[in-house]
Amino acid sequence: MTPDEFRRYGHEVVDWLADYFAHPEQHAVLPKVEPGFLAPQLPPSAPEQGEPMEAILADFTRLIVPGLTHWNHPRFFAYFSVTGSPPGVLAEMLAAGLNINHMVWKSGPSATELEQVTTGWLRQWLGLPEEFFGMIHDTASNSTLHGLAAAREQADPAARTHGVARGLVLYTSEQAHSSVEKSAIAIGLGQRHVRKIAVDECFRLRPDALEETIRADLAQGLRPCCVVATVGATSTTSVDPVPAVADIAQRYGLWLHVDAAYGGAAGLVPEYAHYLAGCARADSLVMNPHKWMGTPVDLSVLFTRRPDVLRRAFALVPEYLRTAEDARALNYMDYSLPLGRRFRALKLWFVMRSYGREGIVAKVRAHIAWAQNLARRIAAHPDYEVCAPTPMSLVCFRRKGTDEDNRALLDRINATGEAFLSHTVLNGRFVLRLAIGNYATTEADVERCWELIQRV
Ligand SMILES: Cc1ncc(COP(=O)(O)O)c(C=O)c1O
Repeated sequence: MTPDEFRRYGHEVVDWLADYFAHPEQHAVLPKVEPGFLAPQLPPSAPEQGEPMEAILADFTRLIVPGLTHWNHPRFFAYFSVTGSPPGVLAEMLAAGLNINHMVWKSGPSATELEQVTTGWLRQWLGLPEEFFGMIHDTASNSTLHGLAAAREQADPAARTHGVARGLVLYTSEQAHSSVEKSAIAIGLGQRHVRKIAVDECFRLRPDALEETIRADLAQGLRPCCVVATVGATSTTSVDPVPAVADIAQRYGLWLHVDAAYGGAAGLVPEYAHYLAGCARADSLVMNPHKWMGTPVDLSVLFTRRPDVLRRAFALVPEYLRTAEDARALNYMDYSLPLGRRFRALKLWFVMRSYGREGIVAKVRAHIAWAQNLARRIAAHPDYEVCAPTPMSLVCFRRKGTDEDNRALLDRINATGEAFLSHTVLNGRFVLRLAIGNYATTEADVERCWELIQRV
């Protein structure tokens, strides 16, 4: 592709994206396609000769777009919404073009140092202590994996050489994200050594049950090593009592990891900063700017007050990557399993500068207010019930009736293509989840969705 052709097709792509951002609601949120729809429309093998870009772009709009679930749609209320914000997308274009791989400082000085600067800015916004070291991963699942690998390194330093000692136990709540248990599998603790602690009526981890379980395990000769608390749990956005969990972690010498992947953004709003109480005492914490902070997928930040332990868990330097020792030059590869690293900090920098803290806070604050307002209206409706508190921007509710009624209601809502909601199970009952989090969403979108729910 010549520079002139690149310019022409680049403009075409930017024009397409600008139109898309202007009217994402022109598309159905959920596509009307069945599994297996795409492959029969594409050749069975890749082309031998290169094809013209016109043909590739035409097939993109003809074949790919109709099968997309539109996460940018303002009435995408499923899971936790994300935002492919234009400033973040511009940064992604630059990062793609630059194609930096900053495994070591020397292979990407600006990328390495911008990652230190942006994670430092985020640390300040979250009110975390200065000694916290920040690094960017793709997802919260990977951030948590690294946090928990550090916890294992702390508890069992011989594991690196000899394999994991049996009997290390990890504690988390029964509402914790599955990434916690997956991490325990990956670092060799085993599912049998994951304790899912009971929650209270607001779906928060119960410190009394945590301590009781730790004591029982100690009495059995097991080795409690780590506890994971959640700020903004996936099903209900419940906030575990982190200060009380931190006290217990301190008393029993456990590594404290906090999963604030979603809820960390709520903590940026001064009225909700108390959701992050106790997080300054964590050994590691994950927060995902790609969830509620306007940053395009993927970007998750892992903070730790013990980078030395994280480094002990992962550093292994082959000769070809050895660089001259310079204390000021950080080699991020020493702190993670993957060697290669995308220049993700660029989009975080663009987003933080473009919105500013106040811009992001205004969005998050509005989303919480709309969700709480909707929860009040649902609770006041004779046919519906709200099934969990609404501390953040997620409303958990159901129509009074059977689980089958509610499953059918969810299917009918999603089949309209006007909105997309997801579900969870609380206290054994099927519950609908409506999560507000896309920066293009307006209060009118929430209103329209509530009307839609009642209509269908
Ligand atoms: C509380 C929480 N933690 C972790 C995750 C995993 O996030 P990721 O997709 O970035 O791995 C999620 C996903 O929604 C989540 O809700």
